[in-house]
Amino acid sequence: MTQRLALVTGGEGGIGTEICRQLGAAGRRVVTTCLDPEAENIEAWADGLRQAGVDASWVQCDVSDYDACVAMADEVRERFGDVEILVNVAGITRDGFLHKMENAQWRSVIDINLNGAFNVTRQFVAGMREQGFGRVVNISSVNGQTGQFGQTNYSAAKAGLHGFTMALAKEGAPKGVTANTVSPGYVKTSMTEAIPEKVREAIVAQIPAGDMGQPADIARAVAFLTADDAGYINGANLPVNGALFCSF
Ligand code: CAA
Repeated sequence: MTQRLALVTGGEGGIGTEICRQLGAAGRRVVTTCLDPEAENIEAWADGLRQAGVDASWVQCDVSDYDACVAMADEVRERFGDVEILVNVAGITRDGFLHKMENAQWRSVIDINLNGAFNVTRQFVAGMREQGFGRVVNISSVNGQTGQFGQTNYSAAKAGLHGFTMALAKEGAPKGVTANTVSPGYVKTSMTEAIPEKVREAIVAQIPAGDMGQPADIARAVAFLTADDAGYINGANLPVNGALFCSF
């Protein structure tokens, strides 16, 4: 049987790479989108995963550009086949207090983190419905659940992602398509390294687990939600945050 194909946007980032690795370990073929193959050294990234036994490939795409996503989806279908698992990871921060925030800071975060999920998911969900199988996972954030200083843009986009997930879950459930959110807390990646040190230390001091999480902690949740036998878990938000924020 052909291995299921997983598309992971932003798969070359800290969390994305680990998601690709764990999906590969679960027997999925993995394709990532990348923005700039040379700058991201994407061939070396793919080689690293292949050496770890993952069937990994990449396509170039700016997820904030709808037409580019249409073209990317055609390329993926032609080169690799139908996407059955989609993980929307691509995301950026452009932090700043709202009273100082530039229009471009707001727009770029909404365009990539929220509109990007629509632009990509829109291309594949009809195929999933036809196949009677699909798994969509959107990577949100604890800061979408709680709000965070300097992140009105990011918190809005990440909260919006879960609304998108819940609506998509209702639409997909009759057709075997699930949509779930994973909401990471603070994870050791270049994104959290960019937080001013004093603020970062104050945040870590509030994490009951005592430290930031690892990308593998997030990937574990994604592998769980995308399993073939996870079809009844639909419309859920799975927080992975070391008990930083607990709710039900
Ligand atoms: N908690 C408590 N206080 C905070 C704070 C926070 N998270 N962020 C900023 N402040 C406080 C600062 O300590 C400072 O207080 P004092 O004046 O008493 O020193 C005050 O707010 C002003 O801060 P700055 O001097 O830094 O002001 P600025 O305008 O230069 O920058 C900022 C403001 C952009 C919010 C900056 O402080 C910052 O980048 N903060 C971190 C924001 C953050 O937590 N981002 C998360 C990124 S990781 C991520 O998003 C991944 C994920 O999904 C979890």
